[in-house]
Amino acid sequence: MKSERTLVIIKPDGIQRALIGEVIKRYERTGLKLVAMKMTVATEDMIETHYSVDPNWKMVTGQKAIDAYRKKGMVPPSENPLELTAIILKKLRKYMSSGPVVAMVWQGMNAVGVVRKITGSTEPLTSDVGSIRGDLTIDSYQMADTDERAVRNLVHTSGSTDDAAKEIALWFKDGELINYKLVQEAILYDVNLDGILE
Ligand code: CMP
Repeated sequence: MKSERTLVIIKPDGIQRALIGEVIKRYERTGLKLVAMKMTVATEDMIETHYSVDPNWKMVTGQKAIDAYRKKGMVPPSENPLELTAIILKKLRKYMSSGPVVAMVWQGMNAVGVVRKITGSTEPLTSDVGSIRGDLTIDSYQMADTDERAVRNLVHTSGSTDDAAKEIALWFKDGELINYKLVQEAILYDVNLDGILE
């Protein structure tokens, strides 16, 4: 568990909003360890591959969108989750390849869950206060639909340890992940705190 890893991508809107430092700070101060980082421009095909690593993603994303429409008393453009996701994916390909992104791997105890908690839920309008998406931006499904674009929610984070492993392998070569010790890991993980008092 202590070496669990997760992928974070600061999306093109996060870069353009000058939030790279703010986003990194929020993950870094938890005690998680940054073990890889790069700035890159993704191709549309890379984005499609990225969102296809989880076989359930298409169904879950479409259903979430349908539920969000209904909750707001709106009629979804389609009742079929897969049809909705196909539309979203087309917009995502464009959005995620529109400019540079920063891809990172964070490592530590429950890294996937910790990062998801700090990031907040998909739609910034309804993300918790205190989360990256809740605090730092204002987008909504409705705005995105009106403007026929993907929801701009600053960051992507892996949904599970399985997805994380596949996404990390897609974005990073083996040699780009650095194994190193952080001094603070002693206070986070060591059973005894011997050696603090002199
Ligand atoms: P992310 O967490 O990267 O996962 C999929 C992305 O698709 C999501 O963040 C949003 O950027 C986008 N997205 C998800 N649902 C919708 C939707 N209903 N309409 C537009 N964009 C969406």
